[in-house]
Amino acid sequence: MSSIQDSCFLKACRREPTPFTPVWLMRQAGRYQAEYREIRKKVSFLELCKTPELACEVTVHAVDQLGVDAAILFADILLILEPLGVPFHFDEGHGPVIDGPVRTNADIDRVAESIVATESLGYVMDAIRLIRADLEPRGVPLIGFSGAPFTLASYAIEGGGSRDYRHCKALMFGDEGAWNALMAKISGAITNYLLAQIDAGVHAVQLFDSWVGALSPADYRRYVLPHVAPIFDAIRPTGVPAIHFGQGNPELLPVIKEAGGDVISVDWRISMDDAWSRVGPDVGIQGNMDPVAILAPREAMFERAQAVLDEVGGRPGHVFNLGHGLLRWSEVPQVQALVEYVHERSAR
Ligand code: CP3
Repeated sequence: MSSIQDSCFLKACRREPTPFTPVWLMRQAGRYQAEYREIRKKVSFLELCKTPELACEVTVHAVDQLGVDAAILFADILLILEPLGVPFHFDEGHGPVIDGPVRTNADIDRVAESIVATESLGYVMDAIRLIRADLEPRGVPLIGFSGAPFTLASYAIEGGGSRDYRHCKALMFGDEGAWNALMAKISGAITNYLLAQIDAGVHAVQLFDSWVGALSPADYRRYVLPHVAPIFDAIRPTGVPAIHFGQGNPELLPVIKEAGGDVISVDWRISMDDAWSRVGPDVGIQGNMDPVAILAPREAMFERAQAVLDEVGGRPGHVFNLGHGLLRWSEVPQVQALVEYVHERSAR
């Protein structure tokens, strides 16, 4: 076995014992870093995503600066919307804006039937190859990712971020056939994209269902699970560990687990031991410190990190992470102190 397969992170994904708890942080590369802000003075966010050398630079810099146990590919969940025929842009200060929300049957018909990610998202595969070449000698694994069908559909339908998902739910509740048609197209594209990332060399993948917490378990089962399960079914034969992140509603944990994933990523709204008993012992668990704790005084942050470790109690299969992405107001020394704390306090 290569040393990467023996890394703490991949061992934890396989629920094998590790000498310490591996840690990485969602959004570990971003605006809270001065070096990132310097690069962003020269290129837009999308140019950064589409320039493999720069995407590689910010991915690797986060690993070097923080000492985390895994890299996450620098990209965005929305990139896949472009080849699907749903163009978007980023409005400074307002986040993503879809240039023509997908709301009617005619809109859904215009969404691409399938994508060839190696071509339309070839720049992502190029970035993966560069990052791998950089990190492999150091034994640091690389996580690829995609947005999940519900979260991507919610952007496409709402036209951007949303509080109530009213257009999205109107389609879901009001025209199940149209909803299923859209979700099937997105789900197929995600599968193609993740398999292409695995081919290009990522060691694990994470599916981000950031906004799925807006749903009840019954609605998740009816409208979402049938489109998520095939993605994990397609990845399973590759043997590459898959992390399933859903945020906002711990009541969804059992049905999210049922949809698939070797590791279930949990937010701070539930304790880690309760979360693990809800998903069962046959999966790993990732999480779950509140990202706002990083803005608190150091000892208060440590208290929160310790609580996560205590709730897990050293069981194999824990990947330390935040319950959601690092906030832009985080300070680098504080994030470094968190990583160091988790490593020291979990050493066994
Ligand atoms: O985690 C990492 O370090 C890898 C890079 C990464 C980014 N976005 C970089 C980014 C990853 C994995 C994502 C995923 C992503 N993108 C999600 C899922 C994770 C989550 O937070 O729930 C979502 C919902 C998006 C969509 C998106 N992209 C939003 C809502 C925003 C923020 C808009 C804003 O201005 O705050 C983005 C932009 C984005 N993605 C930035 C970064 C570093 C900031 C862009 C900038 O430089 O201005």
